[in-house]
Amino acid sequence: MKRAKISVIGAGNVGATAAHWAAAKELGDVVLVDIPQIDGVPQGKALDLAEAAPIEGYDALLTGATSYEPTANSDVVIITAGLARKPGMSRDDLLIKNCEIVKSVAEQVAKASPNAVLIVVSNPLDAMVYVAHKVSGFPAKRVVGMAGVLDTARYRSFIAAELGVSVEDIQALLMGGHGDDMVPLPRYTSVGGIPLPELMSADKIDAIVKRTRSGGAEIVGLLKTGSAYYAPSAAAVQMAEAIIKDKKRVLPCAAYCDREYGVGGYFVGVPVKLGTGGVEQIIEVKLTAAEKGLFDASVQHVRDLLKVVKL
Ligand code: NAI
Ligand code: 2OP
Repeated sequence: MKRAKISVIGAGNVGATAAHWAAAKELGDVVLVDIPQIDGVPQGKALDLAEAAPIEGYDALLTGATSYEPTANSDVVIITAGLARKPGMSRDDLLIKNCEIVKSVAEQVAKASPNAVLIVVSNPLDAMVYVAHKVSGFPAKRVVGMAGVLDTARYRSFIAAELGVSVEDIQALLMGGHGDDMVPLPRYTSVGGIPLPELMSADKIDAIVKRTRSGGAEIVGLLKTGSAYYAPSAAAVQMAEAIIKDKKRVLPCAAYCDREYGVGGYFVGVPVKLGTGGVEQIIEVKLTAAEKGLFDASVQHVRDLLKVVKL
């Protein structure tokens, strides 16, 4: 069987760790790309990962580069290029600079890998995935943003810790944008099939929802020099795996919604079916008036962000 090819653009914390997870899971060969100004860094990280392979026992070709030729005809491209948050910054503070970066990356990726599925990670996520879609010219179903898998993983880990149960048994849904107004949905959260509200008080659930919303800032506050990368890269690679193995996973991702949920042509976090074609279906769940109100406010934030972006 032909090995899949995964390119990761941006060989920083998220990118290099994504390359690590992807190689360790033997998802395919991995190309790690960064800017010419730091030539040697993506190559060095790729070589280091290749040298770990005999210890960990993974077969994957790892290449580092500062040009796009080695990425040609990738099946999946994970875009992590851009500035990360520092303490005191919101994701939105990254908008203008990262917009220029993601534009130039998406243009080059589209030329080199016209049939790839793009997984965008760069922040502010819901705006950057829109930019990548417009600039690449790819059909919307082949462009998807990573946020919900990370945010639900945070939410699931907090629930598991509070209940003292395995993280494996927590299933959860979270919708909206990747901002402080994201919408975790306790009604669609279960523990071994048991609805969360039957196992936890409303006050405890509220506290966990609040902590989830500021989960990114919590890590920034601790690290002080940048933002989270182990869980974000694991989340992006879980999406890549669903696409490469055509798993038809149902995951919360930033997908292009037009009539769906009344969004009107933006990328926001919704449950989707992910397979070889990228976003193969957007699943519409029933929301209560209160949940819909929170979702609409979060979508409005995404619309407002994009007003500043010139494409
Ligand atoms: P980092 O600073 O460690 O790495 C970013 C890398 O991008 C650097 O190596 C930089 O040289 C590279 N880069 C800059 N311009 C580039 C270009 N034109 N082409 C190729 N590479 C370029 O940052 P980190 O922690 O890896 O985060 C990357 C991005 O991902 C940030 O925007 C961050 O906010 C975002 N992020 C998003 C998450 C999400 O849930 N969607 C979660 C975590 C991070
Ligand atoms: C996070 O949620 C910074 O968006 C990034 O960790």
